[in-house]
Amino acid sequence: MKEQAREITGKDGQKYTMKSINAANAEQFLDFMYQVSDDTHFMTRYGDEVGQSEKEIKEEEKRLQSLYDDSRQTMTSIFDNEKIVGNIAVRSIGKGRKTKHRCEIGLGVRKEYHGAGLGTILMEHAIDFAKNAGYTCMELEVLEDNTKALGLYKKMGFVESGKLPCGFKLDDGTSIGEISMYKLL
Ligand SMILES: CC(C)(COP(=O)(O)OP(=O)(O)OC[C@H]1O[C@@H](n2cnc3c(N)ncnc32)[C@H](O)[C@@H]1OP(=O)(O)O)[C@@H](O)C(=O)NCCC(=O)NCCS
Repeated sequence: MKEQAREITGKDGQKYTMKSINAANAEQFLDFMYQVSDDTHFMTRYGDEVGQSEKEIKEEEKRLQSLYDDSRQTMTSIFDNEKIVGNIAVRSIGKGRKTKHRCEIGLGVRKEYHGAGLGTILMEHAIDFAKNAGYTCMELEVLEDNTKALGLYKKMGFVESGKLPCGFKLDDGTSIGEISMYKLL
């Protein structure tokens, strides 16, 4: 959804811009996803699975534009000048009458910006957005060893609904459980 850009201040005192992104931000977003996915094993993909070829940029442009054009979904990013340093996605889970009350979120912040409160600001924004869009149930998945994200989600009022023990399997064979969480809005 198209949202007005607004200035925010991190706990580090630095000023950032928060706004929804669209096709024009595809390259910046893929660069962001590459770095966040390369820094930890907590994201769904490995960094080397985040493609940045011309074809993949085109596909990302389409995906971002369709989220931007949809009043019930958003990709909201925090910018440090021209660089995306944090992002939250709010996506519909179902369009039919039985599931249109449910949305899911995906969150990431570049490593060098951790601890500045940007994750909290993005979560607060996503919750406000989802309430205004008429959702009453917000869902997410988080790895069981992602202590910081688990702490953040609990702080925001999310509760655990279950765990998939075989959620992630890393290249070295390590298996990590994936916890499902939800928040009633
Ligand atoms: C999880 C992530 C988004 C947090 O972003 P951030 O901008 O550093 O988060 P904030 O500074 O707003 O909030 C930190 C919160 O995390 C929690 N937290 C931080 N360290 C913690 C720890 N050691 N134990 C438990 N909770 C902790 C606290 O609730 C803290 O809030 P507080 O400072 O008010 O107490 C960020 O670490 C990240 O992007 N990690 C890599 C990708 C990822 O894991 N994404 C989530 C996938 S589910």
